[in-house]
Amino acid sequence: MTLDPLALPQTWPMPATPRPIVVLGAGGIVQDAHMPAYRKAGFPVVGVFDIDAARAAACAERWGMRAYTSLAEAVAEPGAVFDLATPPGAHLDLLRALPDGAAVLIQKPMGRTLDEATAILRLCQAKRLMAAVNFQLRFAPMVLPLRAAIAQGALGRVVDVEVHLNLVTPWALFPFLKGLDRVEIAVHSIHYLDLIRAVLGNPVGVHARTLGHPNHDLAQTRTAAILDFSPDVRCVMSINHDHDFGRRFQDAMIRFEGDKGASVMKLGLLLDYPRGEPDELWLNTGGDWVQVPLSGGWFPDAFVGRMANLQRFMAGEDATLESAVADAWHTMALVEACFRAASTPATPVPEAP
Ligand SMILES: NC(=O)c1ccc[n+]([C@@H]2O[C@H](COP(=O)([O-])OP(=O)(O)OC[C@H]3O[C@@H](n4cnc5c(N)ncnc54)[C@H](O)[C@@H]3O)[C@@H](O)[C@H]2O)c1
Repeated sequence: MTLDPLALPQTWPMPATPRPIVVLGAGGIVQDAHMPAYRKAGFPVVGVFDIDAARAAACAERWGMRAYTSLAEAVAEPGAVFDLATPPGAHLDLLRALPDGAAVLIQKPMGRTLDEATAILRLCQAKRLMAAVNFQLRFAPMVLPLRAAIAQGALGRVVDVEVHLNLVTPWALFPFLKGLDRVEIAVHSIHYLDLIRAVLGNPVGVHARTLGHPNHDLAQTRTAAILDFSPDVRCVMSINHDHDFGRRFQDAMIRFEGDKGASVMKLGLLLDYPRGEPDELWLNTGGDWVQVPLSGGWFPDAFVGRMANLQRFMAGEDATLESAVADAWHTMALVEACFRAASTPATPVPEAP
């Protein structure tokens, strides 16, 4: 199939009339990704609330918006889209405080456990919230053209998927992970699980192991998982955040391969995080590999598309809300399945007769 790589979309369409955004939580991801993205897109962010008033004030000053002194004040902002950028354990209480029928983007993960995800889903339904989860990898400039190519049939039927990470992640940048029981799959590989679901749907089961490393005390930083889709679809994740032996053999790639074509993405951000290297997308739809020239990077551009889709859905400009809570629940279920699988004994190897 001939495919014009330049004709594939790399950005999500913008809402005709952007709505005011109220940010709840003024932490690292807001400063590094949400605000740069919204500034770039021209989304009006009217104010921020954080239980740490000094953090809210500093964030408000940096980005030229209002710092609310109470949650009640923040949720009273008329016509706002609420942007929860809080730790997963805080989501439920904040959602309870929102006005019924409000639009809200919830940072991933959707709660600390599957039970919390279920409680969040039920609450959103009871309050008729227009709620989506910030699985922004789906909107990255390298992912949108890939999804379009797959939707156009350029790869044929996807039958082989591999996520391969072999690098060093500076976990010290995320102090909240220290002491958590669930780390790698719950906060990192959850993005890959969600993207795989976006392309292939829900697997029927998983095999998984997820481990720490003798050089630090985080609960898990290495994962091996097999997602079981159907008899002829192979799907594996091989994730090692502890390859601290120089750049030469470090790697961060996702390969989607169909029966007619293949794609490889390089997740440049993860190499030399947070400075990152450029992302890459390569397609082979018969013949030579073609590199798709990318006009943006995963961070912050994916956060633009994520918010744009929510706002367009509110306005009736998009028919589908990506990663709506009812869909995102299944990504949480997949995370849960991986952790359950990881604690299940493997098939014993037969002993010598
Ligand atoms: N989608 C992504 O790619 C991505 C990337 C990084 C982090 N995250 C998620 O974003 C969230 C925040 O991460 P971070 O790195 O910014 O963490 P952080 O610790 O830097 O910031 C969290 C902020 O939330 C505030 N907070 C906590 N409880 C609150 C409450 N009830 N009301 C208002 N504010 C409250 C804290 O005071 C803090 O300022 C986490 O859930 C994390 O998993 C997502």
